[in-house]
This record gives sequence, C-alpha cells and structure tokens, in this order.
Amino acid sequence: MKKIHFIDKGKGFPLVLIHGFPLSHKMWEPQISFFENHCRVIAYDVRGHGRSEMGDYQYTIENHADDLLSLLDELNISKACVLGLSMGGYIALRAYEKSPKKFKALILSDTKSEADSDEAKIKRFQAMSEVKIKGSAKYAKLALPGLFSKSAFEKRLPVIRKMEDIVAATPPKSIAATLLAMAARTDTTIGLAQIKVPTLVIVGKQDAITPVAVMKKMHQGIDGARLSVIPEAGHLSNLENPEQFNKIVFDFLQDNKLINHA
Ligand code: MLT
Repeated sequence: MKKIHFIDKGKGFPLVLIHGFPLSHKMWEPQISFFENHCRVIAYDVRGHGRSEMGDYQYTIENHADDLLSLLDELNISKACVLGLSMGGYIALRAYEKSPKKFKALILSDTKSEADSDEAKIKRFQAMSEVKIKGSAKYAKLALPGLFSKSAFEKRLPVIRKMEDIVAATPPKSIAATLLAMAARTDTTIGLAQIKVPTLVIVGKQDAITPVAVMKKMHQGIDGARLSVIPEAGHLSNLENPEQFNKIVFDFLQDNKLINHA
C-alpha cells in the first residue's frame, strides 16, 4: 500500500481535491472527469482512507495537513488551488495556517473553522465505540442520511450506494481514529483573517452538518471571499448537484486565471 495514494490527471495549474470523512478520492469522480479537461487535477486518499496506508492509527488533522504539504513537495508543486470538503476543509485550513505560500487559491466546501464543541466531541467518542463493536457497514448505514439531502434518496440512489460502499470498506479502526482526530482538531477561526488568497466558500442549501448559517459566518471572516449556496444539495454538494458545483468552481478558477484556454 502506498503511503498516500493519489491520482494526477490533466495539464495546467494544479487543483488539489481533499475528500470528506470517511470517504476517498472517489467522491470526486464528477469533478475529476470535468476538470481534467481544464487544469491539472490531483485527488488523494487521506491517510487511513481508500488506498492510502493506514499507518499507526494515531491520526491528527495536523499530520493530515503535513501529508498534504509533503504530497505537494513530492509532486514539485510550488503553489496550488486546494479544494477541501468538510474534513478536507479542516485539513486545508490547517495546511494554510502552516504554509500559506503553497496556496494560490482556496476552496472551502461544506466545512467549518470552529473546533468541536464538547457535545460534538462526546458524540464522536460514542461513535468510536460503536464502530469498533458494530463495524463499518453499520456505521455507513447510520452516517449516510446526514451526508445527503432527503431528496437525494429518491434522485441519486446509485451515488449514495457507492459512497456507502466506500464507508463500509474503511476499517473500523481507521474510522474511529479519524473521529478522534477531528475531535482533537484545532480551531482555525482566528486564522481566517490571515487568508490572503482568493477564496471560494461553497455550501449545499440543505447541508445539515455544516449549515448555510455556519458557512456564511466563516465566509464573512475571510477578506474578499466569494460565497455560493448550491440549491438541491446536502453536505456532499459536489455529488448531489455536480453540474452546479463544477460551474461555480470553474467560474472561480477562470476569474482567477487558473484555467487552461485552448
Ligand atoms: C465530513 O464530511 O468530512 C464530516 O462530516 C466531517 C465531520 O464529521 O466533522
């Protein structure tokens, strides 16, 4: 198993995609197939997910941010546009605090800068115990409804099943370890005012995990950031309304001259 598994497609300015929890780079399929025609797309599996190594199961968002920065070095990328969704956004925000020079632009989708409240931490600790006893398939069944809007269960069932399979294939120890990493993450709200690159904030209108109000607050903290609310989309807005998601990201990249032109 490779330390960090990634795909690298297309040519031009690098767009780096960081997936949500507990998924893999496969959640970006509609974005990879679209953006590989317009720029270079790198999508990787966060340690403990997909085909990346599981390591010692002592994960932190800090180390995940280091993995991202090391991957950029390994690929000789001096600057990238980084797009993180949910947990991917936690990683992107911490990586920006650590190494802002690596960022040309930032896209934060369905995520937040605040650390977990005590209530949220306790919920994660309960989920850690449950996933180790009941297994990942059961965890997937319980987690999926939170990741999509209600209407997606009528309109996008094949995509939902695909995501369920990814969660079910993730080792329970990895899910538990990542829950702990998220519970232990630092609050990056104070760093928002230091973000000096063009930033796009995206949220699904029906996102129940990081609702529009939370994302609006984060958007207000970032100087000059753009905010887009995607209709007919829950937490995994890139999968529920990929056409709209891709257009919003494309326009942002084009306005910042990061898109290839024929
Ligand atoms: C995710 O989609 O990455 C998770 O919902 C993040 C979280 O549980 O905080």
